[in-house]
Amino acid sequence: MLYQGKNYRSVWVNERKLFIIDQNALPYEFKILELENIQQVFAAIQKMKIRGAPAIGAVAALGYALAISRSKDSQLSENINRYYKLLLASRLTAVDLKNGLDAVKWAIENESDPKVIKTAALQAAEKFVENSVLECQSIGRYGNQLITEGCRILTHCNAGALATVDYGTALAPMREAHYCGKKIFVYVDETRPRLQGMRLTAWELAQEGIDHAIIVDNAAGYYMQQGKIDLVITGADRIAANGDIANKIGTYSKAVLAKENGIPFYIAAPFSTFDRKLQSGKDIPIEERSPDEVLKYNEMELSSGLSTAYNPAFDVTPAKYITGYITPAGIFNSKDFYKLWEMNIREQSSRQS
Ligand code: MRU
Repeated sequence: MLYQGKNYRSVWVNERKLFIIDQNALPYEFKILELENIQQVFAAIQKMKIRGAPAIGAVAALGYALAISRSKDSQLSENINRYYKLLLASRLTAVDLKNGLDAVKWAIENESDPKVIKTAALQAAEKFVENSVLECQSIGRYGNQLITEGCRILTHCNAGALATVDYGTALAPMREAHYCGKKIFVYVDETRPRLQGMRLTAWELAQEGIDHAIIVDNAAGYYMQQGKIDLVITGADRIAANGDIANKIGTYSKAVLAKENGIPFYIAAPFSTFDRKLQSGKDIPIEERSPDEVLKYNEMELSSGLSTAYNPAFDVTPAKYITGYITPAGIFNSKDFYKLWEMNIREQSSRQS
């Protein structure tokens, strides 16, 4: 992603040190953090210094592999299990977290030599991360086919370069369309309570020079009704075998509104977001976060202080509201979802073997 003319990833390793862009500091400050140990990786994911499903998967894979590589040989097998369980518990809904950790675990599970284990863990994490970047670029190229000159697109939350390793999922087609010289306009939902749209998506679009405006979450229906939105693209945190998806809270209502208004609604996601063990969206675990995220902003009370709040971080959009899926292997409409699912199973099995 571009920042002041320089390219950055959301997470990277340099000389065996792990770095992230602190997403809680944006857009006020562009802050790079080093995560020095497994506890810091856990805290960075849990406190959402790094967030977005593919980015969580990437930082988990890299953090896990680096911690394994630093482990004492005598404690290696115990640590491999301990670190896995710790990071897996850092967030609940995005399955990319488990897929990132599994990529490392599968690569080492038949090895016994500590030196081989440490090297293989790092190689597997790096491969997972590089593959994630390639998949997002591919999503961008395919998704661009949906974007016509003058297209006005709505997106929810941040599914950009910050939420992935680079390039983004939902934002990748918009980047690609912009690079191809198409004039587009993006409506950015502010995305209460943590404002990922206002703070992160708008920041990314501004860095790229893509025309956009922030709207309050409740305004999307108004603009749809006025015929001002041609297309909706969001990311996902988990996709089930029946095509249901979980994404940031508020995605479901945007999908229902899009259907009511005859506007195509697309999900953009890499293969790491598919949960091959899950039959239906009803089984997706939904992370409940602290009421404070709703009730306070930067320690300032927004309510009387007499009320509590509910704060589900995600909701499930049933497949019937989804026009299609933009994936690294192409665009699949809902009727063809079973083909996509079979491809995803093959893809994940090949990674395991
Ligand atoms: O709680 P967050 O900010 O991690 O939620 C992120 C989202 O819901 C994104 O839309 C999703 O992870 C896709 S990111 C490419």
